[in-house]
Amino acid sequence: MPLISDPNVITGMASLDDAGVYKLADDLAIIQTIDFFTPIVDEPYVFGQIAVANALSDVYAMGGRPLMALNIVCFPISSMDISVLQEILRGGLDKMREAGVTLIGGHSVDDTELKYGLSVTGVVHPEKVLTNAGAQAGDKLILTKPVGTGILSTALKAGIADKQSVADITASMTALNKEASELMQAVGAHACTDITGFALLGHACQMAHNSQVGLELHFASVPFLPKAEEFATRGCCPAGLQRNREFYSKTVEFAPQVPAPVKDMLFDPQTSGGLLISLAPKTAESLLDRLHEAGVPQAAIIGEVVAGPTGKVLVN
Ligand code: CO
Ligand code: CO
Ligand code: CO
Repeated sequence: MPLISDPNVITGMASLDDAGVYKLADDLAIIQTIDFFTPIVDEPYVFGQIAVANALSDVYAMGGRPLMALNIVCFPISSMDISVLQEILRGGLDKMREAGVTLIGGHSVDDTELKYGLSVTGVVHPEKVLTNAGAQAGDKLILTKPVGTGILSTALKAGIADKQSVADITASMTALNKEASELMQAVGAHACTDITGFALLGHACQMAHNSQVGLELHFASVPFLPKAEEFATRGCCPAGLQRNREFYSKTVEFAPQVPAPVKDMLFDPQTSGGLLISLAPKTAESLLDRLHEAGVPQAAIIGEVVAGPTGKVLVN
């Protein structure tokens, strides 16, 4: 569709980035983003926490500070007990409190399927916006959370996930990307995006494309959730995984030694995934240490940025 152009738009519809950024003044831009979805865990309170951590993440990915949010609720009022909604909203509010974000309103509709999420407004300095377009050849790539939440949520829905796996995805998906975002800004990261529905490989392809570089990922260095490989082998693959594989297969190249379940995990759509950060090699180790100290224990260097082929991701 023909888009509306506005010189104050820093990132908008055309850029495949995490959130929209609009310049208000020379030293101030606002960041806006919206995310909502159906439950992925059984506990309403935890679902509320995950939905909020996920929605705020797009602001963190752009180097911004989320300030306020609006609730978006779709709820089957005639068939579900209102206490479920109360618990979801309580979980969401607790996560907003942890993030220092104020809830200023919202909107709810009666719907056959429950959905919850947020519209978030944040701020950033117009010259400090971190997009997925700033990766430079020679950079190292850091991923801050393990991969595999889609596969494990599918196992959970199928009733075959063990208690520990549920605890693992819960801990990962409810964790804010706040500390990781603040720390990467402090070391002067070049580019960032958060890993969500398009999987590690889809978001890596977008970074490669927008930055006009190539990415090389080392699968043995990628942090995976403990049981993700097992459940992938058992066929617990969400529908989005296959769509990601079909859509991105032309821009991803796998070395022959990459095992099939690892490919599945790399195409696995994530909810509230980690940040993928591109930064100068001399700062990568120190950021990694600081992330580990700040309670982001599974952050890892997973590869590097290369000059080309541009827009392509090589997994070896
Ligand atoms: Co995003
Ligand atoms: Co988003
Ligand atoms: Co109104």
